[in-house]
This record gives sequence, C-alpha cells and structure tokens, in this order.
Amino acid sequence: MALPVRKFDAVIVGAGGSGLRAALELAQAGLKVAVLSKVFPTRSHTVAAQGGVGASLGNMGEDNWHWHMYDTVKGSDWLGDQDAIEFMCRMAPEVVIELEHFGMPFDRNENGTIYQRPFGGHSQNFGERPVQRSCCAADRTGHAMLHTLYQRNVLARTQFFVEWMALDLVRDADGAVLGVTALEMESGQVVLFQGKATLFATGGAGRIFSSSTNAFINTGDGVGMAARAGIPLEDMEFWQFHPTGVAGAGVLITEGVRGEGGILLNKGGERFMERYAPTMKDLASRDVVSRAMATEIKEGRGAGEHADHILLKLDHLGPEVIAKRLPGIREIAIKFANVDPVKDPIPVVPTCHYQMGGIPTNVRGEVVVPRGSELAVAVPGFYAAGECGCASIHGANRLGTNSLTDLLVMGKSAGQSMAEHIRAHGAAHRDLPKDAGEASVARLARLDGQAAGEDVSAVREEIQRTMQAHCGVFRFPDLLEQGVAKIRALGERVARTAITDKSQVFNTARIEALELDNLYETARATMVSAEARKETRGAHDREDFHARDDANWLKHTLWYREGDRLAYKPVNLKPLTVDTIEPKARVY
Ligand code: FUM
Repeated sequence: MALPVRKFDAVIVGAGGSGLRAALELAQAGLKVAVLSKVFPTRSHTVAAQGGVGASLGNMGEDNWHWHMYDTVKGSDWLGDQDAIEFMCRMAPEVVIELEHFGMPFDRNENGTIYQRPFGGHSQNFGERPVQRSCCAADRTGHAMLHTLYQRNVLARTQFFVEWMALDLVRDADGAVLGVTALEMESGQVVLFQGKATLFATGGAGRIFSSSTNAFINTGDGVGMAARAGIPLEDMEFWQFHPTGVAGAGVLITEGVRGEGGILLNKGGERFMERYAPTMKDLASRDVVSRAMATEIKEGRGAGEHADHILLKLDHLGPEVIAKRLPGIREIAIKFANVDPVKDPIPVVPTCHYQMGGIPTNVRGEVVVPRGSELAVAVPGFYAAGECGCASIHGANRLGTNSLTDLLVMGKSAGQSMAEHIRAHGAAHRDLPKDAGEASVARLARLDGQAAGEDVSAVREEIQRTMQAHCGVFRFPDLLEQGVAKIRALGERVARTAITDKSQVFNTARIEALELDNLYETARATMVSAEARKETRGAHDREDFHARDDANWLKHTLWYREGDRLAYKPVNLKPLTVDTIEPKARVY
C-alpha cells in the first residue's frame, strides 16, 4: 500500500528543547521544516527540567569553560569524548545568552545579569570548591525554555504536527535516511514525511524503569526506530539515577534544592554526604550521591517506618528563599509527598532520570556508524540531538544542568549541519524506495489483525520490573545474566501484543502498543550492554568489578539489534584545542 507523502526540507521528530532549537535554526534559514510531536510542544518532557542550564557565565564569581569542561570530563568518569565536551562547554555561554535574547525569563541578580546557582559536580579551579554555574528560571527552567523556543518557532513559521507519532525510519538501498512514517492520532492516518534531512530529537526512555522521573511519553521512540533500522546504539548501559525523586511517586525534586543549601539526612539526622564526599558533600555528582543514599538505605539507616528513604531538609532556607527560588518544589512536595518543605523534610529516593547513551553522533549532530575499518561514517541525511543522541558528552554519568546545555548546543549544531546538507542537496528529494513505509504498515496490520494475545500494559510492567530489579543503581552479575535472559524472553511477548479496541480515532491503546516496541529495544540494549561491561564506571556500578578498568574498558559500547551484537569503539581523549584531561581517580 503506497502511503501519502508530504515533502519538507527537514523533518524533525520531537518538539522538546533540542528539536525546537534545531527547527529554529532551519526555519530562520528559510527552509521548510516539519516538527512531529506526540504532545503539544510545550508539554514535551523538557518542561520538567527544573534546576537550570549550565554555562560558565561567571555572573556570581570567577568561572570559565575550561573548568566546566574539566567537571564534565570528570563527571563522565572519563568515558565522555573530550572533543564533544569541549565543544559543548565553549558554546554554552553563547547559546544561553542567545536564549536570553529570545526572551527567556531567567532569574536576575540585582545588576541585571542572569542568576546562577550551584549544582552537583560543578566546581571552580578544577575541582577545588563548588561554583555557581546553573542559569535558572526559579525551579521551572525547562518550562520557560520550551515556551521561549516554541514562540520563536511560531514566528519563524516552523510547521508543527501535533499528536503525531513517528513509527519508522525510511532508508534507501544506500542506507541514506529519507524521512519517517508517522501516525496521526486524531485520525489514525499514516503518512510518509519525506525530508532531505531528518533529525531525531525524541528525548529519553526513562520509562523502561518502574521508578522514573520521566514523563509517560518517554518511551525511547527515536532509539527504537534507529535500532530497527539497523543503527547501533551507544553506551546504553549508562542510566542516571537522580538522587531526589519523591519516595513512592518518582516525581523530580530538583538538585537546585541542594544548590540553594538543602541537605540530605539519614534516619539519625546525620548529614551523611560528609562521609562520602568531603569536599562537595551534597553537591557531589549524581552517581556518587545516589549510591551513597542507596548504601544508607541498604545498611539500615534509611528514614521512615520502613527505613526506605532519605530526608531532604530545606526548612532552614526560610520561606522567602523557598518561595522565590523553589516555588514548584514546594507545590510538588505538598501534592506528592504530603509534606510542606517550609516545615518538614521531603522523603526522597534515587530515581531513574536520564539516559547517557543513545544514537551515536558527532558534534555536528550527524549520526555516525562504523563501516569497514572506519569507526565513524555519517549516515547521509540522518541526525540526532538531545537525550536520544550520544555525542558522547556525558559518558558514564551526566552532571546536572548539562542536559539543557546539551540540547541547546547540539540542537543548534544539528540544525546548522542539516541546513548545510540541505543546501548541498539541491532542490530535489532522493527517490523513495518501492517498499518505503511497508514496515510500518505491517506493524499496524499485525496489531489490527491480532485477535488475542499479550496485554500491552502487562508486558510493559514486566519490562519495567525486570529493569528495576536486574539493572538498577547497584548491578550484580547473576542478576544481570538473569536479566538478559528475561528481557530476551519478553521479546516474544512484545511480538504477540493484542489490542481489543481497533478503532482509528484517538486510539491510545494502539499508540501504547507501538510505543512498547521502542521501549523494548531500549531495555534490551541496556541490559545486554550492562551485562557485558565488566567494570564500575560512573552510573554503572558492578558488585563483582568494583573499580574502573581503563586498561580494558575505556571504550564505548555499540549494541546492534540484529543478534544482540556488541562492538566497541575508543573514547576520544583528545579535545579540540586544549590538553587532554588525563584519567585519574574520581573523588569529590
Ligand atoms: O535536578 C534537576 O533540576 C535536574 C536537572 C538536570 O537533570 O539537569
């Protein structure tokens, strides 16, 4: 069945920060841009980013991009590529000031400059003491950013396709990417969006875990589509557990709380981070704080009736600071934890927050794959940015605030590269192959034809339980091995899902079934990659290999869906202009 085709210069999947930033670059260049999103753009998951965007503006004290770079390399446990890290840290001030000029309502200092707060792992003078680097709009920075970028895109005449779900990547016989198929939720219609350049900006997939700060839409759609199209996924074993999700609910409590002076206490009222990170204390990097919290709980020092959480105390900041800098946090704590933080501490636990790995790219946002003896050959016409892309800036652990920095820098960079590619491409689109879109038609036909089978939510919950139990903060060899077997077995259940509602109009059951395919690929890539990496690095903490092993594992994982194949590529330790930041022990 030939699908209807709509042609654009650029097709962007995802309307979060990176998708919107890239779209703006392209639309302002006069190109015809389509942005597809499962939700209204300002409801994309970037809206949930709270504490700020990292940039060495130096508004609150001395700072520079080299210190930011050092912190990011150290935060990544040396798995981040140093060219990409330098690129991001150097660009950060420029993209933040640009955003300010777009109208972003940042908090202000008395002298009118952007207010910056301290954040975990960010330091002055190569680790000496905390620095104030996080540019914020109270505790609603992502919200303010999305609205700013969306309005600019409306002005630039970007075309939005809201409540459209991308289904599959379309490639030709040469492997070039020609666009995507997508389903309109309102009508059930499937259309092929053809572009000279296609960007995946689909965000993360934190919904592979049961306890997550991520929105329900974060089902790894870009990662799943890329995997099905034969693109390898990089470093998928590295998932960040944010130290402060509301216990039981998972909702994010920004690290900005600790940036403003909040502290973590165990059941004895001890500020235990002083033992684990004597210099940075509660503002050590997230993997360090999350592990310390999990250890306190494991060793019986958790708070509450079941000794199963940690307390985040901020009443000493006073009601004025809380009202000015953390108004959203107070609201979340009252609604989801039933405590008013002006008086009482918030019960928190480490909660899955961010995927460090994703679709491999270079700093231009071009998707790159190994071919023959070459390590990184660009896939023509294909780009990825934001959380679903892996440049690799965050390596084994991301610093707080660097996600918003990444999506601005990489979104802009991808937009610029796409514009260059489109101009070089000329007026015509490449020819579509005869079977373009057939894979999506077949997926939908299976769902429509399947009379009985597996319940989508039951399979999804089993995936989430398996990931949580077998691939969490601490990773055990036997659990990982069993996890791989369980996840592989779940593949058969994913292939047999059935929906009873076969209607076309706003059929959310069909959407959830399609999302499950992507969630599953993400989970399998994670489990297989994690089982194989026999060391502890950043967020990947193995109980049988306690130390980082640079001799054998200073390399990126590449997972291929076909046969669960793994390959590895070296970490780039060479920055663009400065000396290598040599690997050393990571202490805070
Ligand atoms: O804690 C936070 O506000 C989250 C920020 C981030 O993930 O960068």
